[in-house]
Amino acid sequence: MAATTPSHSAGWRPPRLTYTTSSRFIVDGLGEPLATNAAVQPSLQAGGGPMVRLEGVTKSFGDNRVLEDVDLSVPPGSVQVIIGPSGSGKSTLLRCVNLLEPVDSGRIFLEGQEITGKGVDVSEVRQQIGIVFQQFNLFPHLKTMDNLTLAARRIRRMRRSHAEQRAMELLRTVGLEEKARQYPHQLSGGQQQRVAIARALMMSPHVMLFDEVTSALDPELVGEVLVVMRDLAKTGMTMLVVTHEMQFARDVGDHLVFIDHGRIVEQGKPVDVLDRPREERTRRFLRRTLQLADSLEELEITEEGGVT
Ligand SMILES: Nc1ncnc2c1ncn2[C@@H]1O[C@H](COP(=O)(O)OP(=O)(O)O)[C@@H](O)[C@H]1O
Ligand SMILES: [Mg+2]
Repeated sequence: MAATTPSHSAGWRPPRLTYTTSSRFIVDGLGEPLATNAAVQPSLQAGGGPMVRLEGVTKSFGDNRVLEDVDLSVPPGSVQVIIGPSGSGKSTLLRCVNLLEPVDSGRIFLEGQEITGKGVDVSEVRQQIGIVFQQFNLFPHLKTMDNLTLAARRIRRMRRSHAEQRAMELLRTVGLEEKARQYPHQLSGGQQQRVAIARALMMSPHVMLFDEVTSALDPELVGEVLVVMRDLAKTGMTMLVVTHEMQFARDVGDHLVFIDHGRIVEQGKPVDVLDRPREERTRRFLRRTLQLADSLEELEITEEGGVT
């Protein structure tokens, strides 16, 4: 049998990405959204209140105070980006929103309803809040299609044909319908992460949380995942995104929050926080991050083990 080159499905063109020395991605020729977005129809809450709201959220692990009186409000359809040093509490914050961690005090609201109260149906809440992690967490023994449909069939009791139809629509949205019958190990890291995003969208969540989803990827695979996230944002999905990709924060973020030692230090429009940070701690963090991207020559290890 003659070898064939895999053909891309109609509507999907592979993104052409180039990298600058500062590892910013440049997306060329991607003015149009990926395939169709009909599969993603986020609900916009009637009444205009925030989609997600945190009120005085505090969380410790033993003596380690990880989140300190965090207030945050995410309007429907907005993209909120969270940046901050390693260990500052970013993942814990997302995990609290998704009820993977209980808060010690404070409250979290989803579409105006408190989700941190007693008697909340955790499974029901989690169906409204999709989450994607740095490690893709796909089931290695399941094909892409089954990774997508498993929860929908088990939890939602969706019929197989219906679940598979929806999964195909979402795979098309992330440009991977040809990979439906492949196992995770047959996919690149970027493709696996796009599958993980499609899987999180299966339950039609009202908000999506992203925890450093490009941090484990080879640099040349980062762009294709960011493009999928950018296009998801264009559909009006509410997104809470922890990332180190400052270009993404600048281009796609509506609001940027800098968090350090579990506290919000500074927030505002991404361009303002990134170009004109008011707080010294933010300046130091950004200097470090951008220096790392631009040049290693001037960096030194500090006594605390950090880098200046
Ligand atoms: N399950 C846990 N048990 C104990 N300590 C934890 C747990 N999860 C996170 N931590 C600690 O909480 C702090 C914040 O962690 P994390 O939220 O993962 O930070 P970030 O995502 O900003 O790097 C760290 O000191 C970390 O060691
Ligand atoms: Mg983290």
